[in-house]
Amino acid sequence: MTIRVYSDGQVRAPGDATVPVFDRGFLFGDSVYETVGTNRGKPIFLADHMDRLARSAERLFLRLPDRDFIERAVAATLAAVDNAESRIRIIVTRGDGPVDLDPASAGEPRLVVIVQPLGGPSPEMYEKGVQVEIVSVARNSPQALDPAIKSGNYLNNVLAIGEARRRRPTAHEAILCAAHGSVAEGASSNLFAVVGGEIRTPSLQVGILDGVTRGKVVALARGDHMPLREVDFMSPDELRQANEVFLTSSVRNILPVVQVDGITVGDGKPGPMTKRLMALYRQLVEAET
Ligand code: PDD
Repeated sequence: MTIRVYSDGQVRAPGDATVPVFDRGFLFGDSVYETVGTNRGKPIFLADHMDRLARSAERLFLRLPDRDFIERAVAATLAAVDNAESRIRIIVTRGDGPVDLDPASAGEPRLVVIVQPLGGPSPEMYEKGVQVEIVSVARNSPQALDPAIKSGNYLNNVLAIGEARRRRPTAHEAILCAAHGSVAEGASSNLFAVVGGEIRTPSLQVGILDGVTRGKVVALARGDHMPLREVDFMSPDELRQANEVFLTSSVRNILPVVQVDGITVGDGKPGPMTKRLMALYRQLVEAET
């Protein structure tokens, strides 16, 4: 199990990788990033993550190194580890500058790639499901800092996880609602609920990250003729009373939820639609990698 970091043009041991204190990612969270999982050592849906990195950077007027350059850095870092499966974090900051908010004062963008053991949920968590808490911290408003931008500013999400864990130390994930009250997404995941036989997930209009896994799951469900609707409003009670709930993210893939705010979901076990989608998603990942 190894961790390697690409920084300053080289793949290094974690202790040898540094970022200057005047880096704007450090000073202001002025950066974009992606987390990519591997299957059989190969990045899963890397092209989708690179597309989203570009979209995030564009929204922040942040210049990215060439896509080829980033992909070569990812490949070189991944080649330097011997993990069963890895978690790849691609970070691009706006670079160094004076302690001055003006983005025009920044130098060259800085690329850092961290590759570490995947560290995803345990087999038991997939089998038995996890607990989540709906928190009072609202998801950032799209008019303030659009959750569609995957930036290095994750304080909204850090506050949410903190609240969930203070309330229930065993909570796996915090669920944030948008300011208008609709359930939005997890602190680092998207969310699906099965209500009356229909799979529902908050629409992008609610103000969420356009999750790569979420997009694949929506397409898989539709391709399999499972009823699925992206909804512009999902109440917290709808989630608490759902028959099935699951989370999606690149590190988790599809992870069943069996308790929301201490209330048992369905019969307390991962439900049939969740399990069907887990199987379909596994097949898709195998085919893609
Ligand atoms: N998080 N919503 C938020 C706020 C996220 O941070 C993430 C991903 C997702 C799921 O997106 P995807 O399916 O593309 O991974 C949704 C990653 C895992 C992270 O924070 O490292």
